[in-house]
This record gives sequence, structure tokens and C-alpha cells, in this order.
Amino acid sequence: MTKKNLVSIDDYSKEEILEVLERASKFEENPNSNLLEGKVVASLFFEPSTRTRLSFETAISRMGGRIVGFTDSSSSSVTKGESLKDTIKMVSNYCDLIVMRHPIEGSARYASEVADIPLINAGDGANQHPTQTMLDLYSIYKTQGTLENLNIFMVGDLKYGRTVHSLLMAMSHFNPTFHFIAPKELEIPIGYKMFMDSNNIKYYEHSELDGIINDADILYMTRVQRERFADPLEYEKVKNVYILKNKMLDNTKDNLRILHPLPRVNEISTDVDANPKAYYFEQALNGVYARQAIIAKALDL
Ligand code: CP
Repeated sequence: MTKKNLVSIDDYSKEEILEVLERASKFEENPNSNLLEGKVVASLFFEPSTRTRLSFETAISRMGGRIVGFTDSSSSSVTKGESLKDTIKMVSNYCDLIVMRHPIEGSARYASEVADIPLINAGDGANQHPTQTMLDLYSIYKTQGTLENLNIFMVGDLKYGRTVHSLLMAMSHFNPTFHFIAPKELEIPIGYKMFMDSNNIKYYEHSELDGIINDADILYMTRVQRERFADPLEYEKVKNVYILKNKMLDNTKDNLRILHPLPRVNEISTDVDANPKAYYFEQALNGVYARQAIIAKALDL
């Protein structure tokens, strides 16, 4: 069996991304199978999650697999001082695949190097969230009919938002034009700007949301990541900086779709939910199919 980790979105080539999206559409047509019969998947969540954990567990269940793990590391031997290395070594003995979320950047890469079985990163701190990216790409493809040459507007916490970082890297295969809307404190990190510069990707930075989204194909809203701020006062300064209201969508393109990795706090007003351009709940459902395809690839099924 090929050990195929997904730690960072650049673990997948453009061809592999497209292959996984194609597989996701097959899973959407027919979600139930016995592909994982006899397999046990470890679901290790050292950090809270609703969508990622539950959609992985749904994906595994629909494929006939079984799940072990924890939803809170306080119920594991980490509280007794067990290292991540030893935890992963032990789980490798029991299971066929590890899905792990962890608050520390780089923990997923480290765990994948220690593990004897494939590992899928379900989010490592402010670094990467590649499975979210695959469902974002699947959602973009489904709603736009293409991934090529799109105007992608990303709004909010572009510094700590790991979904933004992974999506930016994945979209770089498809000639996007990015518009980043963030306060100075939360702007896209310099490393990602260097990445875009060296890959000739067009991008523009803005500080205001109102009046600039009329030529957007995708409006990717994000939550300000309170849990990543060392100083609560800094969070208070920026927490309400952008709030998307239904009225602001009046002159936007028909094909515009609003995505958000969720959870939402207040950055999308609830009056947007009934607008046909709001796609964030369907996007979360797409996570089941995208994750089924990722699991199948990880296990070479
Ligand atoms: N999008 C996302 O990662 O949501 P959860 O934190 O609920 O998994």
C-alpha cells in the first residue's frame, strides 16, 4: 500500500487535486459503500471541531469503516504527560489511518513522520487545513463550473485563518486573481505574498469591504480567530471589523457564491442566509464527499 499523507495542500499535485475532486463527485452520487470494511480510522482531535470531525466520521461510516479516538485530549494520556510522538506510535499500532487536528503549527508534519500509517491533517494551528481546502475547491468547481481564472475575494482574518493559507496555495494552480480584505493586524502573512510573487499570481490588498466585491466570483469570508490571539485586547480591536450584510450583495455578479469555512460568529449577517448566493451550508455538506475521496486516496482504495 502507498502511504499517502495529506499534511499540506502542496502534498497534492494539480493532477491529484483534480483526481480527488472527480472522486468526490462520484462519492456524492453514491455516498454509501463498503470500501473501508475491516478498516479502523483514528480520529484524534486535540482541538475543538464540529464540521471537520463530524464530516470525517460521517464519511468513514458511509464507507463502512470504524472509528476510534478522542474529541478532547483531556480524556487521553496526554494529560499524564505522554508525548505526541508516543501517542501517534501507539495509535499506529491499532489503526489503518490517522485523522488529526492539533493546535500547534507543524504538529501534523511531525506526526506524519512518526506514524507508520497514513495521516491526514485536519488542521494544525494557524498553519494549514488541507481537507477544508479540498471541500472549498469542490464547492468552487460545483458552483462556477471551473477552477480557472476566477476572482477570489478573501475577507477577515487572513493572518491566522489556516483555511485561507491552504486555499491560496491550491488555487495557485488555476490562475486566480486574489483580493485580500483585512485590517493591518490580520493581513496575509509575508511568506504567502512571496509565494504569490514567485508564482506570478495577481493579488490586491484592501482595507474596506463595502463597494469592492462587485466583480467577485467567490467571496470567502472568515472568522477572526480569537483562540490564536495572545492578547485579548488585540482581538477586541478587530473582532467586528467586517460584517457582510445582504444589502451589500445587490450589485454583485449572478455567479457569485459566498463561502465560509464556518463556524461563523457575526461576520456574515443572518439576513444573507436566504440569499441564493449564500453557499456556506452546502459547502459544509460537500466536506463529506471531499473527505471520502481523500480517505480513499490515503489508503489507495
Ligand atoms: N471549518 C472547520 O474546520 O470547522 P470546525 O472547526 O467545526 O471543524
